[in-house]
Amino acid sequence: MDSCYILGIESSCDETAAAVVRSGEEVISNVVASQIATHQPYGGVVPELASREHLRAIVPVVRQALAEAGQTYESLDALAVTQGPGLAGALLVGISYAKALAFALEKPLIAVNHLEGHIHAVLLEEGQKGNHELSFPMLALVVSGGHTHLYLAERRGESWSYENIGHTRDDAAGEAFDKVAKLLGLGYPGGPIIDRLAKHGDPRAVKFGSSQIKHPDRRISTHPSKTAKGGAPGTKGASTGGGQLARHPPPPSRARFDFSYSGIKTAVLRYVETHNLAPTIEERRRAFAGIAKPKLDDFLAACDKQTLNLVASFQRAMVEDLVEKTLAAAREYDVATLFVAGGVAANNELRETFEREAAEQGLPVYFPSRPLSTDNAAMIAAAAYPKFLAKQFAAMEFSAEAGMALK
Ligand code: KG4
Ligand code: ZN
Repeated sequence: MDSCYILGIESSCDETAAAVVRSGEEVISNVVASQIATHQPYGGVVPELASREHLRAIVPVVRQALAEAGQTYESLDALAVTQGPGLAGALLVGISYAKALAFALEKPLIAVNHLEGHIHAVLLEEGQKGNHELSFPMLALVVSGGHTHLYLAERRGESWSYENIGHTRDDAAGEAFDKVAKLLGLGYPGGPIIDRLAKHGDPRAVKFGSSQIKHPDRRISTHPSKTAKGGAPGTKGASTGGGQLARHPPPPSRARFDFSYSGIKTAVLRYVETHNLAPTIEERRRAFAGIAKPKLDDFLAACDKQTLNLVASFQRAMVEDLVEKTLAAAREYDVATLFVAGGVAANNELRETFEREAAEQGLPVYFPSRPLSTDNAAMIAAAAYPKFLAKQFAAMEFSAEAGMALK
């Protein structure tokens, strides 16, 4: 087959999305209807409202994706839909619609794990740039509003498999950004707002202790100069000079790289209490209640230096922890390529820090473009392509899996 056109449908959280992707590596159309305005007054996603908004948006969004791609229902080769993880009611809207379409059109339907979608957003865009030479083993950090997961990814023929080597023990990184923004009266979603405001504060102003952000279970050092030589179980051998990766198999008892972000949220709350920031936060909330879509200047006008410093310090602590642990895992598992995907991968400081520090380690790092970092359906259609080639089609009775694991 020369070209294969897959329609992807994504409705796992607060974005209704549809896209047409050609042969897993060319985005022909990519439509995302965001529900931010619906959830904004509540400072987070309200599941019942999300399902209702998906119901409203799904038909027009799919029609628009087809129209923009110059495709018809009949000209498609297959349909793909997110099966999980996500909000059960939200997932069901996309799944029911995709099933109905596939049944009526007699086209194959492919069920996709949302997290695999985030990883394939990177592969899709690298393929689109003509880069088909990615080296294995590959480590992927999927960092979003619901997940902070590290996966070792392998490819055998058309088949991909994943091993989870770390995840958050409590809040996901994006969730911490959202909760801290809400706490400071900055609105929802918090990640993009904190990203923009952090540049205007001093990231060294507020110190977050290691107990507030480090997960205590880890059994290995995260700094190459501190790694034990000779390798007790769970420790990595010496890295070679110049920060290059040493090529040898990981130890038999594999270390885990878990994250924990609920402590830093509590630390921000403590800071707010001890520095009596509540009145200025209240004032800010009232000011933003009267502005439909606050701009950067509105945020800057509503934030004093102390708040900007707090925001910048919070972001720095998050970025340092994510980068440090991910690169330690990369050394431990001796990977050749690093992917960073998911909504938080849109963060400027995270990208810059990963690029700088991965380069020091001699490790190539890839991100999706910003539009493909946050939830979209192009990544679902792209992840479906290898399954299409392998004829891994979904049985009509499959259903939403809110806690679906990636394997
Ligand atoms: O992948 P995504 O769109 O949805 C989930 O699968 O969760 O990620 C959404 C998350 C939200 O928590 C949002 O605040 C965060 O990604 N986010 C960011 C940025 N853009 C989105 N976090 C930090 N910096 C950003 N620029
Ligand atoms: Zn996502």
